[in-house]
Amino acid sequence: MHDIIRQLAEKRDAACLGGGQKRIDSQHAKGKLSARERIELLLDNGSFEEWDMFKEHRCTDFGMADESVPGDGVVIGYGTINGRLMFVFSQDFTVFGGSLSESHAEKICKVMDQAMKVGAPLIGLNDSGGARIQEGVASLGGYADVFQRNVMASGVIPQISLIMGPCAGGAVYSPAMTDFIFMVKDSSYMFVTGPEVVKTVTHEDVTAEELGGAVSHTSKSGVADLAFENDVEALMIMRRFLGFLPANNREKPPRLPAQDPADRLDLSLDTLVPDNTNKPYDIKELILKTVDDGDFFEIQPDFAKNIVIGFGRMDGSPVGIVANQPLVMAGCLDIKSSTKAARFVRFCDAFNFPVITFVDVPGFMPGTAQEYGGIIKHGAKLLYAYAECTVPKITVITRKAYGGAYDVMSSKHLRGDVNFAWPSAEIAVMGPKGAVEIIFREEKGDPAKLAQREAEYKAKFANPFVAGARGFIDDVIMPNETRKRICRSLAMLHDKQLTNPWRKHGNIPL
Ligand code: HXC
Repeated sequence: MHDIIRQLAEKRDAACLGGGQKRIDSQHAKGKLSARERIELLLDNGSFEEWDMFKEHRCTDFGMADESVPGDGVVIGYGTINGRLMFVFSQDFTVFGGSLSESHAEKICKVMDQAMKVGAPLIGLNDSGGARIQEGVASLGGYADVFQRNVMASGVIPQISLIMGPCAGGAVYSPAMTDFIFMVKDSSYMFVTGPEVVKTVTHEDVTAEELGGAVSHTSKSGVADLAFENDVEALMIMRRFLGFLPANNREKPPRLPAQDPADRLDLSLDTLVPDNTNKPYDIKELILKTVDDGDFFEIQPDFAKNIVIGFGRMDGSPVGIVANQPLVMAGCLDIKSSTKAARFVRFCDAFNFPVITFVDVPGFMPGTAQEYGGIIKHGAKLLYAYAECTVPKITVITRKAYGGAYDVMSSKHLRGDVNFAWPSAEIAVMGPKGAVEIIFREEKGDPAKLAQREAEYKAKFANPFVAGARGFIDDVIMPNETRKRICRSLAMLHDKQLTNPWRKHGNIPL
């Protein structure tokens, strides 16, 4: 018996070494942790239960029959984060470059299937050279098996990808179908075709980092949600992030005991909106002063900065926040900001986060770039997302709510549950200047007259009371009591029930 136990220990030790100490050292030299070190940091101490440590590939081509490494380049299993169950796979770059074989894919599928059965989040730590070249089509089949599961799990359990090394070719499509993608700066990249192919086809000279690094994807493409300095920071923030998420779509996001009083007032908010309506202000100030303890977890902070999205807590319960940002492009809605917010609203709806929307939007961005880029279709995504959303929706219009953008931004008409306006709100078809230039076109040559018309229009429409008179606004509130009024509304909406008509699925304008 002793021998058997010793053999087991030896086998485990060998499996834990993956592709060997030399390759682990090389991983460290690149500033990267090993697959197991990452899991250790991510999960609660000692909570990891590993599966399929001894699973090997079945390939016999290209000399692979003699080259087998237990575990086959991916570590899978489950453990806890702050006591909550999580499933995880972590690709091991030291074993055939973390490349995906048929067996490797089977391991990922196993953990995905189990996460679905018990209803717990799935975290993927990606670090892979892509399809196992020696296996060819078997590897492609393995990818497709993972893709199919990503889609089935979408909206059922949270799926989070952390890209910690290469992720190229078709391999990018598994993370792309997960809910959030985080990346590590300088050591991770994602692209469909690498720099060499780009050079051949488009004659562009571009480095891997420029083409698909963390900064490119969090600021230019919007493919990734957050970029971190290194593995340790990424894993620590992942732990914090998961604290906001429910285990699955049947649960509410986890409530924490609140320290911050729900009825806390903030008098400084009364002067947040400048007297000059064209002067910008930082909507993040309102967010930070509204959520519990100023703790706001922003998503995509460097992409489409004209809209702010992220998670916070109100009286202990997680909420999703969407806010136009007057500091950037006056808070206009454009293609990028519409798709950014639409996807976020759909995530919130799928996973039972109430959505709080702060509105200061002068309208949709005009111009050929936007029209040719399909702003009609992309703007419609946000409209669609808000309209289909059945979770509690609370809206606060701080200043401008003009035109179609008023309707889109969680208006009463899209089943907004509680719609507040600050006294500084201006709810109208368009801004006073644009409006009078159209209505009183014949007076264009008379600036004094036009100015008078503008003042009249402003006095009549640039306020919250016209909308209030119709019941489109439930109340005009003092800015200082925003938190208190939202917390009360959320408490009232705690057991909200609303379902959409049965259908196979809607047809969101993609
Ligand atoms: C098998 C692979 C591999 C792969 C790397 N390795 N990628 N083995 N299949 N796809 C092995 C290497 O042979 C090497 O083995 C070890 O992993 C480390 O690789 P290095 O090249 O030394 O590392 P590095 O210099 O850091 O470069 C990493 C890399 C490079 C950029 C990822 O390895 C690379 O270009 N690999 C090939 C990428 C690729 O073309 N993949 C297929 C894409 S097509 P030793 O024994 O020396 O340690 C695809 C389709 C997916 O993925 C479709 C899904 C639908």
